[in-house]
Amino acid sequence: MTPQNDTKQRKAEHVQIVLNENVSGQGITTGFEKYRLVHEALPDIDFDSISLNTRFLSRNIATPFLISSMTGGTQATGDINRVLATAAQERGWTLALGSMRVAIENPETHSTFQMRPYAPDIPILVNLGAVQLNKGMGVEHCRQIVEIAEADGLILHLNSMQEAFQPDGDTNFSGLLKKIEKICTGLNTPVGVKEVGWGIHGTLARKLYDCGVHFIDVAGAGGTSWSQVESFRSTPMLKKAAKAFLDWGIPTAECIHDIREKNPSETLIASGGLQNGVDAAKSIALGANLAGFGRFLLRDAVNDPTKLVEKMSQVELELKLAMFGVGANTIDSLSQKMIHKIS
Ligand SMILES: Cc1cc2nc3c(=O)[nH]c(=O)nc-3n(C[C@H](O)[C@H](O)[C@H](O)COP(=O)(O)O)c2cc1C
Repeated sequence: MTPQNDTKQRKAEHVQIVLNENVSGQGITTGFEKYRLVHEALPDIDFDSISLNTRFLSRNIATPFLISSMTGGTQATGDINRVLATAAQERGWTLALGSMRVAIENPETHSTFQMRPYAPDIPILVNLGAVQLNKGMGVEHCRQIVEIAEADGLILHLNSMQEAFQPDGDTNFSGLLKKIEKICTGLNTPVGVKEVGWGIHGTLARKLYDCGVHFIDVAGAGGTSWSQVESFRSTPMLKKAAKAFLDWGIPTAECIHDIREKNPSETLIASGGLQNGVDAAKSIALGANLAGFGRFLLRDAVNDPTKLVEKMSQVELELKLAMFGVGANTIDSLSQKMIHKIS
């Protein structure tokens, strides 16, 4: 199999595994259940005045929600991207596309990432594995994928452990910070960095922001476990090893708290296992600017576009209800509200 086909097939397999197998971590949670927003019996706001408007990448956006990077590269995954893009446009969510390494390797796949016609008014983010910067990719490749997708930003993903659980994964992660810095300096587009489900701690976040990274998406633990996903397509030894990593990673809520404590003002996205608008409200009160949903949206994106839009509206309603419950009628005001850690 050529490397291009290999990349395409892997991405298609990921979707099937995530839809059909148990790929959640075990013995670890997002940590949101350890936090309580403080109920305000007299909220002193009109529910009808609650607004989800906020700002991201120096522009106004209708909601603080993001569809996390998932897919593209084959006809079927291109269809999923179109459904996600159409729903994101309708609801005013930001859309992140899956890794575009395949688009660099194979121009025939470009249309599976070209979602601007379906989503003219929302931020679109493209995605590439940071480790590809150790395999000959650089600023020009990043510029190319931004142009293909007419994107507003680039996300570089850090997926060291996922690569390690792939039989032929790319596992040389040395020296990447300097290369990430070069991308931030050389690209005329904001650059973000995310994990894929094991989280980013505050000290690494500080280093990344210091390199010029515009935003960090924690993609913390408690949701999809990529050692589990890869175990379904791996060698017997790696499959066995994956069982020992079921509770690996930094819970999403911990990442947000730690990053915000060490980085008071930079842009931060909460994701990794979010299941509803209350998780999003807690994320924002803990210091996140946006809240991202991945696997939670995938099944409906594949099976039922109407249900997908309903699910996104449901999350928005839950966030508004939580905002009413704490007496916040703007996202900014929610971010100032107290949140208690249950000991
Ligand atoms: C089918 C699938 C494919 C994914 N592909 C990518 C990818 O290409 N690039 C990336 O950065 N993250 C990728 N992710 C990881 C998600 O963006 C997200 O960080 C992770 O799934 C944790 O969020 P969740 O628990 O809400 O799913 C993928 C996730 C899923 C479910």
